[in-house]
Amino acid sequence: MTDTRVAIIGAGPAGMLLSHLLDRAGIDNVVLEQQSRSYVLGRIRAGVLESGTVETLREAGLGNRMDAEGHVHDTINIAWRGEDVLSVNTFELLGKTMMAYGQTRIQEDLYTAADERGARVVFQAQDVQLHDIASDHPSVTFDTGAGSERLSCEFIAGCDGFHGVSRTHIPDHVRTDYDKVYPFGWLGILSETPPLPILLYANHERGFALCSMRNPMLSRYYVQAPLTDRIEDWSDDRFWDELLTRLPESQSSRIVTGPSIEKSLAPLRSHVSEPMRWGNLFLAGDAAHIVPPTGAKGLNLAVADVRYLSQALIAHYAGDGTGLEDYSATALRRVWGAVRFSWWMTTLLHRFPDQTAFDQRAQEQELSYVASSAHAQAALAEQYVGLPYS
Ligand code: APR
Ligand code: PHB
Repeated sequence: MTDTRVAIIGAGPAGMLLSHLLDRAGIDNVVLEQQSRSYVLGRIRAGVLESGTVETLREAGLGNRMDAEGHVHDTINIAWRGEDVLSVNTFELLGKTMMAYGQTRIQEDLYTAADERGARVVFQAQDVQLHDIASDHPSVTFDTGAGSERLSCEFIAGCDGFHGVSRTHIPDHVRTDYDKVYPFGWLGILSETPPLPILLYANHERGFALCSMRNPMLSRYYVQAPLTDRIEDWSDDRFWDELLTRLPESQSSRIVTGPSIEKSLAPLRSHVSEPMRWGNLFLAGDAAHIVPPTGAKGLNLAVADVRYLSQALIAHYAGDGTGLEDYSATALRRVWGAVRFSWWMTTLLHRFPDQTAFDQRAQEQELSYVASSAHAQAALAEQYVGLPYS
């Protein structure tokens, strides 16, 4: 393997978008991914894009299919106390909208673009190890099955997700991890049925529920469930019964049910690893932080990190290294904003197993306050649609 400027670990959305943006600026890079291409494409993940993510993808020349097939959203709907549905319109409040467009599609678009530009992406790269990160001559070794290879580079971008290896190369005395694990999960299904036309979050005494979409004939629904449940415990009938019970009648009567084509139970956690840079290693996306999905921020944060990191690397090769110096602090400011917002949305909308009568009344009061205050709604809208990039 010939040497490169930037070795990128991980071919998820973060790694592939970084590779794309660097290539457009003429900065040579190689992506190393431990899974196969079809495995990565088969992962079902998030679906709501902030306005800045939409702009970033368009500016990168990746917006054509998103604009043709994505569904523009301008309203966050929250149901609670049976019939109340609070609608917060981000376009009226901020002149900005969101886009419903699945991460799976974005991943496909990134791989198609990579094929077109002749990107160097090594799939099924096993035993990826990072070397001499603090020196001017870092390198990465990996195994392709045909023997061990070494890739020498100038920078390493750790885009290898929450279970990746990059983060663990930052020494313990430098790194701080912040963790919060929530005592429940989300049971999610995909079904080939027409979705509700709106994005609807529900707080119900039996637990949280969410109605979302992928396209006009593909719906995505979630219900809060104990992490001790097994998927086999959740027949489609049980899922639909539970979902419909948790929604107000005005909405549940509009839901079209059908067989699920995918069903999974995902844990909810918040995690931040600081700093996001050590030596010539830079972390981006889930490699550095995880948020619970309630605020729809995971993919958007990955895109923001990559936007900052690509701009910093481009400036570095043009002779200005300040962006790389500031990368960790700049990215972490946005990360903590999203971590706090996602925690707040999670706390507002779920039933916690140890929720006391006091906690319950406080949660109801918080919902009433958001429903009655234009300022609180503006705060929700501005964070949900995404704060401006710094
Ligand atoms: N070596 C090489 N590749 C690895 C390694 C490793 N040791 N460990 C993990 N990877 C790969 C994974 O297989 C995965 O394809 O890194 C990739 C990381 O991709 P994601 O987990 O998708 O993370 P990221 O690109 O940061 O995307 C952000 O947004 O919606 C959220 O969590 C969701 O995936 C999403 C994320
Ligand atoms: C999704 O469509 O999968 C989705 C939407 C909103 C969220 C989380 C997930 O907050």
